[in-house]
Amino acid sequence: MRILSGIQPSGVLHIGNYFGMMQPAIALQAQGEAFYFIADYHALTSVRDPKALRENIHRVALDFLACGLDPERAALFRQSDVPQVTELAWILSTVAPMGLLERSHSYKDKLARGMLPSVGLFNYPVLMAADILIYDSDVVPVGKDQKQHIEITRDLAVKINETFGKVFKLPEPRIQAAAEIVPGIDGQKMSKSYGNNIDIFGNEKEMRTLVMSIVTDSTPVETPKDPSRSTIFQLYSLFATKNEIAEMRERFQKGGTGYGDFKKELFQKLWQYFAPMRKRREEILADKSYVDSVLIRGARRANEVANQVMQRVRSAVGL
Ligand code: ADP
Ligand code: TRP
Repeated sequence: MRILSGIQPSGVLHIGNYFGMMQPAIALQAQGEAFYFIADYHALTSVRDPKALRENIHRVALDFLACGLDPERAALFRQSDVPQVTELAWILSTVAPMGLLERSHSYKDKLARGMLPSVGLFNYPVLMAADILIYDSDVVPVGKDQKQHIEITRDLAVKINETFGKVFKLPEPRIQAAAEIVPGIDGQKMSKSYGNNIDIFGNEKEMRTLVMSIVTDSTPVETPKDPSRSTIFQLYSLFATKNEIAEMRERFQKGGTGYGDFKKELFQKLWQYFAPMRKRREEILADKSYVDSVLIRGARRANEVANQVMQRVRSAVGL
């Protein structure tokens, strides 16, 4: 089984990224041949500062490694180290119906948030399809918001297969049911573009302040509270054991504990959960060339596969 996923280096990684994409990707790396990349071509649709982009790429690689990505099992690389993917994106774009891309939720959301409607932004799903198809991927672990992109990928693969014979495998999305949409401190989907994110490697004070500022209703301390509508409880459920979750649920329903106390417990859990990863991150940071050497090795492996698939594609379409 070949597993593939990508993440944009468009900012600092948060716990929505962790539970939606990174943790499932890390869990899958032992179950097949994994390819994980940093989607720097995609990030160019929003990042216009070359220095910031370079720093983000390095930081995402570092954070992913610190969280448990094992470069002995998974190839970690920069998308732009496999430029053949842009050639495949062009070929896919020649069969991609405008209407299919016009229906993209992600494109519409981005315009609604004020991003420029560039051709690159419109074509984003075609490049993403190329990312997936160029590695003959079977499974793509992503958050729920990426599901439509995988459907578009499958549609484009089918179009090519119908036109030119069987060229591509059809990939399946793998969406983590327990963390479909991780809420941010305001209760909406956690996203760096909403400014409601809790970062994985934020410092202790920052993280505590963010947790303490989670928005709640004004139910008094003694009154029973509804855990299913609480961001605190939803976040706690991602970090705690079954028993701990059941216990917190009971205390919500019983009344007598204020949101402030629940927030303190959430902070403790969250801070402890990432402690081994913070330690690993420090170790990686001590070896200045480690991240770059991992990326170079990953790119070599990715190029081997991409070159083979591109030969098949070029021959199928008549180039
Ligand atoms: P952001 O919304 O912060 O810009 P990205 O769009 O870069 O995040 O998402 C990178 C990956 O993390 C994708 O697979 C996405 O589905 C996942 N992800 C992002 N935010 C969340 C969230 N709040 N809940 C679950 N998964 C998420
Ligand atoms: N669009 C994804 C995101 O914003 C990143 C991405 C680019 C990706 N190419 C991919 C994810 C291929 C999975 C597979 O998070």
